[in-house]
Amino acid sequence: MRDGLSDILLEWYDTHARVMPWRVSPQDRKDGVLPDPYCVWMSEIMLQQTTVAAVKDYFHRFTAKWPTVSDLAAAEDADVMAEWAGLGYYARARNLLKCARAVVDDHGGRFPDTREGLLKLPGVGPYTAGAVSSIAFNRSEVVVDGNVERVMSRLYNVETPLPTSKPELTELARALTPEERPGDYAQAVMDLGATICTPRNPACGICPWREPCVARAEGTAASLPRKLPK
Ligand code: ADE
Repeated sequence: MRDGLSDILLEWYDTHARVMPWRVSPQDRKDGVLPDPYCVWMSEIMLQQTTVAAVKDYFHRFTAKWPTVSDLAAAEDADVMAEWAGLGYYARARNLLKCARAVVDDHGGRFPDTREGLLKLPGVGPYTAGAVSSIAFNRSEVVVDGNVERVMSRLYNVETPLPTSKPELTELARALTPEERPGDYAQAVMDLGATICTPRNPACGICPWREPCVARAEGTAASLPRKLPK
């Protein structure tokens, strides 16, 4: 990325990052300390289809009970399912355990540090592989969730509806992903989408990307992304 868009967002993130239990402290972030891959992986699995507010307590309980991937791999299936109760989408819990056991049995208890390696793990798809490789291993991989799709569609005023526009939005997101601090950048786009570039009533006036945003200039932000009827 050469035109400074990612720099603008990283600067915003330095003062506006949401505090979350799986993130490192602002001081550690400054020092380039990366979060524990186990914590990043677990939080990303829990955050699929579930809000940050709902996930926090579960994340605390899981990591208190099973502090490492080896602890989780050794857990009884029924204990893990019981601890997951209430989070929903129970296939995630079954895959969580399968994945922990694969990391221990096939990788000596260390998560693979590339997108390709992560993709081979049970329950790890393109989103999670991108998120873990960028956030925990500082790799410049694209991370695309619903927030990122919304932010990209507005920044570039993409009027093609979802899901047709998915490949285009992914390419736009990839082109913006910086070589430096890719994990912070990925989480900055998510935070922007969750707190400012929200689905309805986006707060364009306080957005760090208000100047470059094409949808803001066109007055189309609130109507994007367009979606094909299901
Ligand atoms: N949603 C899913 N993963 C997230 C993360 N790492 N930060 C903020 N929101 C998220």
